[in-house]
Amino acid sequence: MIYRIAVLPGDGIGKEITPEAVEALKKVGAKCGLSFEFEEALIGGCAIDATGGPFPEATQKLVKDSDAVLLGAVGGPKWEGLDYSIRPERGLLGLREVLGTFANLRPAKVYPMLADASTLKKEVIEGIDIMVVRELTGGLYFGRPKGIEKLPDGTERGVNTLTYTTPEIERIARVAFDVAGKRRKKVTSVDKANVLESTELWRRVVSEVHKGYPDVELGHMYVDNCAMQLIRNPRQFDVIVTENMFGDILSDEASMLTGSIGMLPSASIGGKVGIFEPIHGSAPDIAGQDKANPIATILSVAMMLRYSFNQEKAAEVIEEAVLKVLEKGYRTGDIMQPGMKLVGTREMGRLVREGI
Ligand code: IPM
Ligand code: MG
Repeated sequence: MIYRIAVLPGDGIGKEITPEAVEALKKVGAKCGLSFEFEEALIGGCAIDATGGPFPEATQKLVKDSDAVLLGAVGGPKWEGLDYSIRPERGLLGLREVLGTFANLRPAKVYPMLADASTLKKEVIEGIDIMVVRELTGGLYFGRPKGIEKLPDGTERGVNTLTYTTPEIERIARVAFDVAGKRRKKVTSVDKANVLESTELWRRVVSEVHKGYPDVELGHMYVDNCAMQLIRNPRQFDVIVTENMFGDILSDEASMLTGSIGMLPSASIGGKVGIFEPIHGSAPDIAGQDKANPIATILSVAMMLRYSFNQEKAAEVIEEAVLKVLEKGYRTGDIMQPGMKLVGTREMGRLVREGI
C-alpha cells in the first residue's frame, strides 16, 4: 500500500520544517518497507497571495483525497490586517472543519537532557508526560452566533458563542479515556462549570461516559485552577481533556514546561483523514534563516505513522532517532545550552535521518 500524504507547508518557517519531516518519512519508509506519495498544496497566507483565500478549492480536494495531512504553520504580519473571514488562520480552522478532526492530541513530554532548558525548576518538570486532548471542531471557536455587529447607538457588539452538544462531548471524552487507557489511566477534565452552563453539561456528560471506563480514573478541574496546577505541580497530570479554546491556551502552557515549543508535535484525529502539525506557529521573526527547530514537525510524522497508519514500529524509529541526536548534544537555537553543538534546521533534519 502507498500512503498518500498532502503536504501543506504554509507560511514562515513552515516552508523550512516540513521538507525535513518529509525526508524523515522517506527515510523511515525505506527502512521499514513503507511507501509514501507526497503532494503539496497551499494554505494560509501564501494561499491568500496566490488565490485570494486561505484554503483554496484545490487544497480542499487534495486533503479529502489523501490518507493524511502534514501541515507546517500559517500566518504572519503581512496578513494580520485582513478581514477575519480570509485570514490565514481561517485556512487552518477550515481544514479542521472539512476533515472533521474533532480530537487534537498534544503531548507535552520533558526530555531529560532538555530539563535545564525550561524556565521552570528542574525538580518541578522532571518526568512530565502529559497528553492534552483538545476538542477541535466545536466550542467557542465554532459556536454561533458570532461576529461583530453595529448597534443603533453607533457602538458595536462582538459575539462568540460557547456551545457543545451531548454527542460532541461524548466523542471527545471517549478519545480521552481511550488514550488514557494506554497511558497512566488518569483523565482530568477541565471546565468552568462554576460559571458556564455549557461546561456544566460538559462535566456531566464526561462523568457519564466515564462509567464505561472503570479502570481509568477521572477528576474534574476548573480551567483557572488547571492553569495554576500546570505550573505548580505538573506531574499530577496524565491526560487533560478540554474545550477548544481552553485547550488552545493550556496546551501552549504545557508545552513551555518542556523547555521549547519547538519540540512538540500534534495529531488531529477523529475524521477520515488526520492532520499532523507542530504546535508552534510560523515564527516570522526567524523564517528563512535556517534557524527553526524541525523536531516538532518530525515528531508529528511519527504521530501520523502511529495514529493514521497504525505503524507503531516506524513511529518509534523516528522518536528514537530524535532522542539519539539530542543525546549527542546537537541543538537548534531554541533549545541551545552552553557546551552543546548549535545546528540549523537542515542540519538537524539531516542528523535525525542519519539516526533513522
Ligand atoms: C493552534 C493555533 C491555532 C488555534 C490558530 C493559528 C488558529 O493557535 O493550533 O493552537 O488557535 O487553534
Ligand atoms: Mg494555539
